[in-house]
Amino acid sequence: MDITPSRSQHRLDPYVDRYAARTAGMTASEIRALFAVASRPEVVSLAGGMPNISGLPLDVVGHAISDLVAHHGPVAMQYGSGQGVPELREQITEVMRLEGIEAHPDDVVVTVGSQQAVDLVTRVFCDPGDVVICEAPSYVGALGVFKAYQCDVVHAEMDADGLVPEALRQAIAATRAAGKKIKFLYTIPNFHNPAGVTLSAARRPEILEICRREDILILEDNPYGLLGFDGEPLRALRADEAEGVIYLGSFSKTFAPGFRVGWALAPHTVREKLVLAQESSTLCPPQFSQMAVSAYLSAHDWQGQIKQFREMYRERRDAMVEALHDLMPAACRWNVPDGGFYVWLTLPPGVDAKAMLPRAVTARVAYVPGTAFFADGFGSSAMRLSFCYPTPERIREGVRRLAGVIEAELELRATFDSYAPAREVGPRGYDGPSSDLS
Ligand SMILES: Cc1ncc(COP(=O)(O)O)c(C=O)c1O
Repeated sequence: MDITPSRSQHRLDPYVDRYAARTAGMTASEIRALFAVASRPEVVSLAGGMPNISGLPLDVVGHAISDLVAHHGPVAMQYGSGQGVPELREQITEVMRLEGIEAHPDDVVVTVGSQQAVDLVTRVFCDPGDVVICEAPSYVGALGVFKAYQCDVVHAEMDADGLVPEALRQAIAATRAAGKKIKFLYTIPNFHNPAGVTLSAARRPEILEICRREDILILEDNPYGLLGFDGEPLRALRADEAEGVIYLGSFSKTFAPGFRVGWALAPHTVREKLVLAQESSTLCPPQFSQMAVSAYLSAHDWQGQIKQFREMYRERRDAMVEALHDLMPAACRWNVPDGGFYVWLTLPPGVDAKAMLPRAVTARVAYVPGTAFFADGFGSSAMRLSFCYPTPERIREGVRRLAGVIEAELELRATFDSYAPAREVGPRGYDGPSSDLS
């Protein structure tokens, strides 16, 4: 009998030598690794960005869906067009009109969430080694896509008014000086995930002008644009530039993420490529989900629903900001977002958000360390706190626990520092937007 262990018994993953090179960039995000612990009921999770859909009128949705099955079942349960259901694409143009966009339904491609739209755009534009310019920090799910397609990410700094035009100019110049090709600027102009900031109205024309002059395509990712707490939605970048911008939208935050319906609005020629990419990826986006979203939009006061969501999220934002103000150690800094789901908190010097996380989870509170939102390892002195899901009371309790963990960390540092020799202070590395965002 041969007792030599087989190849598969030696290795944790017997296929490790066979995977494509691009899988090296496919690693579980820090958020995903956290989900298991953060979802335990005793933990207050300020980590996930799950929309709070408890206020949705389930009777209306249920009615629309049973009606869909009863009256349009054979179509709803059939394959559909790779570009998406025409009626929904028409409705999507109405949604985008709220941000000043005039578009034709023919230029809309429905996708499986806007996450798939990021994937398709990257697939269509990027070869390995191409550069995508991203804000610092940027959305972890998009960074994952760029990594999976072996793109290089170059970060450009933000401040309280969003992406800094001069930082964008510098990122473009430095990338080109290094002989690299920039494929697009990926930007989240409204209620940024994770930074919570919004690109000011005054800056928008300047960002557009830089990209026009430098011939750089903009990928405008805007899932939170209608979730502002005060005033009217800002004009989208796409509203003032049709040829140089691909705009991404989503029903995940304004309706429900479970349907997985998002979209891309693209210049005509790009749109054709996206449809081909969509067809090779999924044949067509789910017909049933699209028709359900379309029925909801037709049957329900969806704008009134968004207003209710805004009020709920504003109450939670207020609870978080008030708790931070009352409870956080003085050296912490944070911004007050005007919409969306997230606050970006910068820790006192020397406190590392990633190293502190296990102690926070032991104290039954979770957050996402800032490093998740950088392609280059920066962000260790910051964290993203989401206020979208827990109740105001739980938010306050979560902040109380977190403040306790940070206090303990500071005490520990003070004890060790009093024994340690004076440290040399090197040049300050770029570490994301930090306190400039507050
Ligand atoms: C900035 C940003 N883009 C895209 C997405 C993906 O959204 P979905 O695929 O649900 O439309 C998210 C989700 O959190 C997001 O925050």
